[in-house]
Amino acid sequence: MAPRPTPADKFSFGLWTVGWQGRDPFGHATREALDPVESVHRLAELGAYGVTFHDDDLVPFGADAATRDAQIARFRKALDETGIVVPMVTTDLFQQPVFKDGGFTSNDRDVRRYALRKVLRNIDLAAELGARTFVMWGGREGGEYDVAKDVQAALERYREAVDLLCQYVIDRGYDLRFALEPKPNEPRGDILLPTVGHAIAFISTLAHPDRVGVNPEVGHEQMAGLNFVHGIAQALWQGKLFHIDLNGQRGIKFDQDLVFGHGDLLNAFALVDLLEHGGPGGGPAYDGPRHFDYKPSRTEDLDGVWASAAANMSTYLLLKERAAAFRADPEVAEALAASKVSELAVPTLGDGEGYTELLADTSAFEEFDVEATAARGFGFVRLNQLAVEHVLGAR
Ligand code: GCO
Ligand code: MN
Ligand code: MN
Repeated sequence: MAPRPTPADKFSFGLWTVGWQGRDPFGHATREALDPVESVHRLAELGAYGVTFHDDDLVPFGADAATRDAQIARFRKALDETGIVVPMVTTDLFQQPVFKDGGFTSNDRDVRRYALRKVLRNIDLAAELGARTFVMWGGREGGEYDVAKDVQAALERYREAVDLLCQYVIDRGYDLRFALEPKPNEPRGDILLPTVGHAIAFISTLAHPDRVGVNPEVGHEQMAGLNFVHGIAQALWQGKLFHIDLNGQRGIKFDQDLVFGHGDLLNAFALVDLLEHGGPGGGPAYDGPRHFDYKPSRTEDLDGVWASAAANMSTYLLLKERAAAFRADPEVAEALAASKVSELAVPTLGDGEGYTELLADTSAFEEFDVEATAARGFGFVRLNQLAVEHVLGAR
């Protein structure tokens, strides 16, 4: 039996996820539009604690002020009725034709100014609704033709934009942090800040780097052939994991946005293990929202939409259970020790040791038994098989 989620599990969903109508480059929508108010109620019934949205998911692009206010009021009422919170808000700078060459990095300066205004307005709404994280996914920031984009200038403009937005949040006294979401491609042929590593390096150039982290998405790193768990571990190590988009992806291809765990299940297991038990004291390494950014496949009807939403949460909880069992298994503890996994936490140099002491230590080099050490196996395969057996419920 799959465990039932509760708000304490901190599961959240984008309105655009369950609300996706199945429109793709080759086919029309296969489902009716969902009212955000209904989504809030359904997600609450399923045990989620939060919803997130792009400005245009909640209020149609170009709506007049009265329509906008009315729609926000309806949404707020649904939040109050259900206890659902809005932990994160994001801005749509990709759907409208005006953003066809991007928002913050469009070659057209007027578009860049318009994009900033759209985001500033949405930051006010985010703060009003109590969001703590503001995600920025620059899906249109990039290009198809190397000669058509001055990438260094584009990065300058990206930085200019993020610096301005940070300054705004600081001046307004909002308790809001930014999380950049990397993606290698799609919709642009090449997107700027394509991976977690690129984004973290970019953040170090900002005026307020402490305000800015990353929102990595499982499928986006995997589209680039990268190991998501490694990316998350580095983001955690650098104190930059501000938010996370969980979903599934099967290899290097278009962005599939499958249900969490429906891609690389073993990597998903290691991810949940890392998020839940990866902290220095053995506690959760990440205590923010477990946010699902998936798309219910266009083969599904509305019942299938809600079943797929529930599937994300139960898969996460099952993996959490499996990870706890893995950690509690004495045979695993023994295999971890045999593989010297925890020895990596021991500094390479002793207390107070520098290169002088290292050079003087004959046991480190002159007397070190290179051959015997090289001959010894690490036992990683056995350890991994124990993980597989736990994932499969065989232990
Ligand atoms: C994608 C992206 C988006 C972003 C979202 C937040 O589908 O490639 O993941 O879903 O997460 O737009 O801004
Ligand atoms: Mn995606
Ligand atoms: Mn995402």
